[in-house]
Amino acid sequence: MKTQVAIVGAGPAGLMLGHLLRAEGIECVVVERQAPDYVLSRIRAGVLEQVTVGIMARLGLDARLRREGLVEAGFNLADGERLIRIDVQDLTGQTVVVYGQTEIQRDLMDAAPERGLEVVWEAADVALHDIESEAPRLTYSKDGVAHEIAARFIVGCDGYHGPSRQAIPASVGRSFERVYPFGWLGILADVPPCNDELIYANHERGFALASMRSHTRSRYYVDVPLTEKVEDWSDERIWDELAVRLGPEAAANMTRGPSIEKSIAPLRSFVFEPMRHGSLLLCGDAAHIVPPTGAKGLNLAASDVHYAAEALVGWFRRHDADAVAGYSEKALARVWKSERFSWSLTKLMHRFPEDGPFERRMQVAELDYIATSRAAQQGIAENYVGLPV
Ligand code: FAD
Ligand code: DHB
Repeated sequence: MKTQVAIVGAGPAGLMLGHLLRAEGIECVVVERQAPDYVLSRIRAGVLEQVTVGIMARLGLDARLRREGLVEAGFNLADGERLIRIDVQDLTGQTVVVYGQTEIQRDLMDAAPERGLEVVWEAADVALHDIESEAPRLTYSKDGVAHEIAARFIVGCDGYHGPSRQAIPASVGRSFERVYPFGWLGILADVPPCNDELIYANHERGFALASMRSHTRSRYYVDVPLTEKVEDWSDERIWDELAVRLGPEAAANMTRGPSIEKSIAPLRSFVFEPMRHGSLLLCGDAAHIVPPTGAKGLNLAASDVHYAAEALVGWFRRHDADAVAGYSEKALARVWKSERFSWSLTKLMHRFPEDGPFERRMQVAELDYIATSRAAQQGIAENYVGLPV
């Protein structure tokens, strides 16, 4: 098969890019390792920046998002008994939207057939070839039959473990990494949220986050050492821990219920440079990972896709080679700012095992400063709603 752009991975990055390219009349094929049901069963991010909402709107795929998404004008940082509200709408004029990644994924998948976006599901042994040439190829097998796609570009949207980044020779790439000594244990339950707005809490027993998916579905997290196993955390144990860490007011409003999903996600900061090599571009988790504290992972994938679509449309519609040549630098400038924000909020809101009383005093001083300074709140709010693309 021959196409203009071969996309590896049908997560949010791969499907958003596929739709954006199809809307511009550019041929593309998305090749995904998993089956559709599996992809839809992954419970991940929940907070969308305007960039992400804007892409869905540009695609005309935002009807359900506008109907069901919860517009959030602010969020809260809790420290013991104190609750610091960051009024992002007042501080930036913008809002974020609570709408699960699973729902975005579903909206993008449902629209694929009618928009002529071809997705090959359950493709095994996906491999990239000749990425340094102008005729790169993807090979894979499906139902035991070998296939090849010849393209002008390949875009790797295949997450942290996918083959795309690994196809770039070690001699031209550089990785930057920070692994954190804890993971987030998440619980999803069909109970009303304890608060209209998200609460990120730094408690002496550890971090907690109260989030939601709707007025009737809640998403909560606590941080746990990496040695913990999900089987050791009964629902009751998680609810008890949340009640302590989130503080008395949130605890009083918290409704407990059986979990419909429970999992532990490790925390990592990671950036791979460059985000383009030859005819291969990387987008989303394939190129970088952020710890989830700033709610940036999915949104960063969306902003990469925005730049990648701009570059590829430039190439195919206006014969503009500079657009592709500049992709990595443009995308990385925003990636590093999101990495910094996610890292700094992670440091502020978690108790690190290696930290002592001095580091704790630094957290308290920073939270005091944030509580009393509009300028400090503005910096946080600006990053939380997402920096401009
Ligand atoms: P992905 O969503 O990972 O999509 C990559 C796709 O590529 C997948 O469908 C995968 O199956 C496919 N693929 C992989 N290997 C191959 C292959 N060999 N061949 C073909 N296809 C392949 N972010 C937040 O902001 N908040 C959160 O709470 C949050 N929780 C998370 C929990 C987990 C467990 C994980 C892994 C991530 C979480 N994130 C969270 C991050 C956020 O979900 C990601 O940043 C986002 O999914 C990135 O989208 P993506 O399309 O780049 O990658
Ligand atoms: C959610 C996840 C995040 O990482 C975050 O910062 C806020 C909300 C969520 O899953 O709802």
